[in-house]
Amino acid sequence: MFQAITNTNHGPVPFHAEQAPLRVGLLGLGTVGGGTYRVLVRNQALIAARCGRAITITAIAVRNTARAQAMVGSEVRVLSDPFALVNQPDIDVVVETIGGTTLAKELVLQAIANGKHVVTANKALLAEHGAEVFAAAQACGVIVAYEGAVAVAIPIVKALREGLAANRVESVSGILNGTTNFILTEMQDKGVDFDKALREAQARGFAEADPHLDVQGIDAAHKLCLLAAIAFGTPISLAQVDVQGIAHLQPRDMEEAKQQGCRIKLLAVAKRDTHGLHLSVRPTLVPAQDWLGCVSGSMNGILVRSDAAGDTFYYGAGAGSEQTASAVIADLVDVARAMHCPPQFRVPYLGTPIQSFS
Ligand code: HSE
Repeated sequence: MFQAITNTNHGPVPFHAEQAPLRVGLLGLGTVGGGTYRVLVRNQALIAARCGRAITITAIAVRNTARAQAMVGSEVRVLSDPFALVNQPDIDVVVETIGGTTLAKELVLQAIANGKHVVTANKALLAEHGAEVFAAAQACGVIVAYEGAVAVAIPIVKALREGLAANRVESVSGILNGTTNFILTEMQDKGVDFDKALREAQARGFAEADPHLDVQGIDAAHKLCLLAAIAFGTPISLAQVDVQGIAHLQPRDMEEAKQQGCRIKLLAVAKRDTHGLHLSVRPTLVPAQDWLGCVSGSMNGILVRSDAAGDTFYYGAGAGSEQTASAVIADLVDVARAMHCPPQFRVPYLGTPIQSFS
């Protein structure tokens, strides 16, 4: 029901007092899906007040339905078939938290074809298939939001895509993987060996299902190519990233770095010069007192150098269940608002309309 408010050309716009809830279908109830469910329930009233409407989980698709049903109660439909979920008519937005690039891609494309908006934290999917996913979404007039895909708790997609929209970006340098930063910090500060530190990162829910993606630098490369596409208005190009991981690093490398007043960080860098765009992920000596040198444990940090704003630095959790949920729910709030806006007036997927890419 709308509250009647003066309707003049310059008067206030109507306030939508009782908008229908945004109906969410959740694919997966693991680290990210479980965190999203918990935060949505815990902060339900606060989120509804900010969003102007409630956000409710209508259905969840999981492998272990009995455990999920016990967790979410009888008001939420729990399905074992994820395709059944993306085909449900009473869902406005599908939140994909299952990860990977095969089943997740099929489900996301099916959801889009069904006219549903999508929220995902799946950087591998977007780095490898973003062009196809965004083109499909554009053709169907739906939103694909992905704040949780890069440096989870840090709203870097929003900062780059909207906050720095006036700027010509010169470079983006970041610690974009929580697992490897945790491992490097444990090795450097506590002398813990690589395998033990990795096991701890896995136990804390930081690592990918396949931790090679973390330690070989591939996860950071996935995130970097999304940031680069936004920062430089170029298509996503994973093949352009020169990637090195951290598995070969030895305690003596840590010691040498320390003697030079530095720390070893898995640094992801995107910069453009007269020769073109350069993208790399590699272990790098960073002065210990620099902003990026101070980023420890599973935290992430991103330094953006741009012509008008100058240097801006972003810091926050780079991995974790509710840390990722924070970004996923922010995307849901954005979807709840923007879904009623004609597609041409929404913020473009990668900040620059796809057809204007340089
Ligand atoms: N495995 C990822 C990391 C999770 O450690 O950064 C968050 O993207």
